[in-house]
Amino acid sequence: MIAAVESDLAIIAVGAAIPDRVVTNDEISQRVETDDAWIQERTGIRERRVAAEGQTVTSLAIIAARQALERADIAPAEIDLILTATASPERSFPSISALVADDIGAHSAGAVDMLAACAGFAYALGHAVAQIHSGLATTVMVIGSEVLSGITDWDDRGTCILFGDGAGAVIIRAGAAPTKENVVVELGVDGSKGGDLVGDLTSRNGKPVDRNIRMNGNVVYRFATQAIVDSTRRVLEAGGWTQDDVDLFVPHQANLRIIESGVARLGFPSERVVITLDSYGNTSSASIPLCLDYAWCTGRLQRGQRLLMMGLGGGLAWGTCLIRWMGEPA
Ligand code: UT7
Repeated sequence: MIAAVESDLAIIAVGAAIPDRVVTNDEISQRVETDDAWIQERTGIRERRVAAEGQTVTSLAIIAARQALERADIAPAEIDLILTATASPERSFPSISALVADDIGAHSAGAVDMLAACAGFAYALGHAVAQIHSGLATTVMVIGSEVLSGITDWDDRGTCILFGDGAGAVIIRAGAAPTKENVVVELGVDGSKGGDLVGDLTSRNGKPVDRNIRMNGNVVYRFATQAIVDSTRRVLEAGGWTQDDVDLFVPHQANLRIIESGVARLGFPSERVVITLDSYGNTSSASIPLCLDYAWCTGRLQRGQRLLMMGLGGGLAWGTCLIRWMGEPA
């Protein structure tokens, strides 16, 4: 589905939680047959962050949420809804969003988690836009949080080189932009390819199975390189925008080659593309808000800019959102 809605909603703040522990490509190559040069050339990843013992999807989400709230300078009671996207929750319930709501004191908020793998954050953003545009919510917190290290098969060199841990949170608010303009959301999925990227979390036929990620890398790669271009073009067209109207392109950080080929075909200059893949790897639903946090901290996010955020992955699902940034400078 795709829709453009005239709205003055905008993102007003971002927060992040980045685990301290750095795992380099060299460290991974001590366990599986791979090397730094191969990983960098094929993926663009130099290192990734891995959660410490006791750090969970919930605890990372809470750190990111608190930071976003502090930077937005609003009261927790003003949050109407918390949506957390994750593919690696430590349990089925209570939801991570419920625990975040309690921790930050968002006692008037509804709270629910969403699962659309690496497209999860974009899906949650799309739902936030819908709730705000319908009038049901004024202020929504959207979180992406992952501890993928817990569901990674560290003996599978085809996947263990890719993933990292972290969390990011944004706050979206009605009336934050001075004028109304087209906000655009596309959410899509091709479930026929669902078996090409699978994350086992709990049990199969009642028996516990190892938590791990299995991926048919080449199929997902082909899907991703096409989806990034097609979805972005549809979103621009639906909103009546062109590439020149987009100030920052924030793609999901799966593989630098996917991003570079997409960006080249779309015609975005590299200075308008945010990359954190080299330092954080693929953090699934956390990758887009971590990019926003990086852009904000480095002064690349300026009030009034239009952001085009695109997530894709397991499902195989994709989500693309064009939304303004109206946060205060760092
Ligand atoms: O976030 C969700 C979305 N995920 C993605 O978008 C991921 C999409 N896929 C990819 O990024 C890439 O497919 C990978 C990075 C996973 C793999 O890169 P590739 O260029 O597609 O490699 P390949 O799977 O075609 O493998 C090429 C060769 C193979 O050897 P042979 O058969 O040519 O002798 C693999 O066995 O590279 C070998 N290989 C490795 N070699 C060193 C596979 N993994 C590794 C490794 N180190 N870690």
